[in-house]
Amino acid sequence: MKLWRGIIEEYRELMSLDADAPVVTLYEGGTPLIPAPAFARNLGVRADIRLKLEGANPTGSFKDRGMTAAISKALADGARVVICASTGNTSASAAAYAARAGLRCVVVIPDGAIAMGKLAQAIAHGAEVVPIRGNFDRALSIVREMADAGLATLVNSVNPWRIEGQKTAAFEIVDQLGSGLAGSAAAAAAAGAAAAPDWLAIPVGNAGNITAYWKGFREYAARGRSASLPRMAGFQAAGAAPIVLGRPVEHPETIATAIRIGNPASWASARAAADDSGGFIDSVTDEEILEAYRLLAQTEGVFAEPASCASAAGLIKMARDGRLQDGQRAVAVLTGNGLKDPSTAIDCAPPVRAAVDADCDAVRRLIEERV
Ligand code: F0G
Repeated sequence: MKLWRGIIEEYRELMSLDADAPVVTLYEGGTPLIPAPAFARNLGVRADIRLKLEGANPTGSFKDRGMTAAISKALADGARVVICASTGNTSASAAAYAARAGLRCVVVIPDGAIAMGKLAQAIAHGAEVVPIRGNFDRALSIVREMADAGLATLVNSVNPWRIEGQKTAAFEIVDQLGSGLAGSAAAAAAAGAAAAPDWLAIPVGNAGNITAYWKGFREYAARGRSASLPRMAGFQAAGAAPIVLGRPVEHPETIATAIRIGNPASWASARAAADDSGGFIDSVTDEEILEAYRLLAQTEGVFAEPASCASAAGLIKMARDGRLQDGQRAVAVLTGNGLKDPSTAIDCAPPVRAAVDADCDAVRRLIEERV
C-alpha cells in the first residue's frame, strides 16, 4: 500500500517550493472523489455527477491544502506570528498548522458569525481569537494592515502560497477521473490521457479557491497531464453575490456563513477563471443551498457544510435551466465538513422527539409507528 504523503510531497514538481524548505503537513489532500447517483437522479438529466469531499481534509476543509504551503513558507522565511481574517475555516486550518509549526497564530473573525465547530477548532489549537464588531471584509482589511506593518505573516488566500497549495485539488480530480470517461471528455480519454470534467462547480466566497482550481487545471493541461480543461461554474450565495451583481455588497447575508463575503479579494481572477474557461459565476438562494444540503446528506450519505452545498445547489440550477446536459460529467467541490456547523443541521431539521421511557415497549411502539 502506498501511503499518501500530503500535497507538497505528492506534487512537489508542480509547486515552486524550495527543495530544502521545511514541510509542515498534516498529510492533507488525497480526498475522495465519489459518484453521486442518487443526487444525479434528482437533476432530471443523465449527467455523471462526482463529489470532491474536501471536508475529509485533516481540519475538515479545503483550506488545509493552502495552509500546508503557506505555513511551510512562513516557517522557511523565519516568521514567528501568522495572522488571518476568517469566516471560520481558514482560522481553524491556520490554527492547526501554526500549532504544528510552533508559530503564534492570531485570527480575526466577525463576532457571532462563524460556525461553532470552526470556533472550537481555533480555540482548541491555541490560536488567539479576536472577534470584531464587523464583517469578514473589514477583518481582512485589518489583518492586511497588520501584515503590512510587519506584525505578522498573512495566511489568507491573498498569500500566493495558499493558491499554490489549493491548486492541487484540480490535479487530484484529473488523476482520479483517470481513463474510461463517459460524455464529451471521452475522446480525450480514448487518446490515453486523463481529462478534466466538463464542468467544475465550486462555491465562491473570497474567490481564492476558484482561482486556485483554474490555475491547477491549466498547469496540468500545459504539462500534458490533462487532455482537457473544465468549464468553471462558480456559485455565490444570493445575499452575498458581489461578483454576480458586479458591485460590492456592503451587508452580505446568508445561512452559508463561510461565504458571507461582500467584496472578495480575488474578484478579478475569479472573473477571469469563469470567462476564460467558458463558464460563469451565478448565485443560489439559501433555500436552494439547504435543499442541496438535505439531498446530499439524506440520499448520498454526504454531510457537507452549507457553503459547500452552493456547488451542488448550482448543479441543480444548471440542470433546470439546461446548462448541464445529458452525457456531461460534472464535479461539485464540497469544500467543508457538515460537522463544522452543527447548529444549522439541528435548526433546519424537525426537532428530535422528547425522551421516552427506557424500556423496550416504548421503543418498539415508536419503531412500529415509524418513529
Ligand atoms: N467553502 C467553504 C466551506 C469556505 O470556508 C470558503 C471560504 C469557501 C467555500 C469559499 O472559498 O473564499 O476561496 O472563495 N472560507 C474562508 C474562511 C473565507 O475564512 O474560512 P473562497
